[in-house]
Amino acid sequence: MPRWLASSTLRTAKLTDGVIWVARPIREMSVSKPSVLVTRRMPSSVLSQLAETCEVDCHAETDALSHEALCQRLAGKHGLVCMFNDELDRTALVAAGAQLRVVATVAVGYDNIDVAAAAERGVVVTNTPDILTGATAELTWALILALTRRVGEGDRFVRAGRWEGWTFDSLLGTELRGKQLGIIGPGRIGRAVAAVAPAFGMRPVLSTRGHSLDPSTEIAGSEEEKWMPFDELLSTSAIVSVHVPLRESTRHLIGRRALIRMKRSAFLINTSRGGVVDDEALAWALDERLIAGAALDVFEHEPHVSPALIGRENVCLTPHLGSATRETRVAMAELAVRNVVEVLAGREAVTPVPLPARLLR
Ligand code: GLV
Repeated sequence: MPRWLASSTLRTAKLTDGVIWVARPIREMSVSKPSVLVTRRMPSSVLSQLAETCEVDCHAETDALSHEALCQRLAGKHGLVCMFNDELDRTALVAAGAQLRVVATVAVGYDNIDVAAAAERGVVVTNTPDILTGATAELTWALILALTRRVGEGDRFVRAGRWEGWTFDSLLGTELRGKQLGIIGPGRIGRAVAAVAPAFGMRPVLSTRGHSLDPSTEIAGSEEEKWMPFDELLSTSAIVSVHVPLRESTRHLIGRRALIRMKRSAFLINTSRGGVVDDEALAWALDERLIAGAALDVFEHEPHVSPALIGRENVCLTPHLGSATRETRVAMAELAVRNVVEVLAGREAVTPVPLPARLLR
């Protein structure tokens, strides 16, 4: 039997196969159509879907609302569709009011949401896992190849009019074949990146450090998946690619201590969250030639990028493009909207984020 937790608005049950997290149905409230704030421009087909059952207030712009504007506009709403860079802290949740039922982020990461505060207030939080795995794994490989084959440098060289003719030894890169790819964070995306490695003749190894997967768990993976302790992975991999969520325990997981352990010939790739890599420590490691280069899609203080990284030829930078394909972004928006519609109808969310452990005790 499910164990329901006492809460006036949130019904929660821990079952053997996971957690059910259900908000009080909207029909219990005295409104005909619940109202939902959408914090960014979205495909009209997705907004129309939402408008079938909800009043939609869309901030139809490309830029984010300020925190103050977000709080003001969220007041009185029953649902929210937000992005990874909208901060849903306790202040915003309180400003929303007691009628808020669901926060649906159009992202897999939810470090921007105070999930415990949401749960305490009876608000279900959902994310968009799985559907962006392929796109993010593709971008990771794009960065690995761009960095090791100096694609960005070559592009800048040609555009600057500096190419005077083919030479035998200019812009020589590093071959992947026969080398080790170290994956930190064996979740869906990390494993999707690892799965491609054999096609390039690479040996993937995985570390559970920073990931919720218990290292003692028996891991059902492919024959090719090999597990390695964090420090050993760092000191033996030609490429180290980071795929952990941002939490207090993973903030600056890749700092001086980790960078010192990497090979001088190794490359670091980060398509997870900016705070997982300490940008200052990375600039220092590149200065000291402790590693050969880095490719970053995410940054500690987006959209600010440290000038110490921007000025370097052996650093490849992209503006948080992990899930940025047309197909994936539309699918993410559709899933977020489905989550809102389901929760506001009093049904289970399609993809709720896990409840904080302390609320399950
Ligand atoms: C984007 O950064 C995401 O978490 O989906």
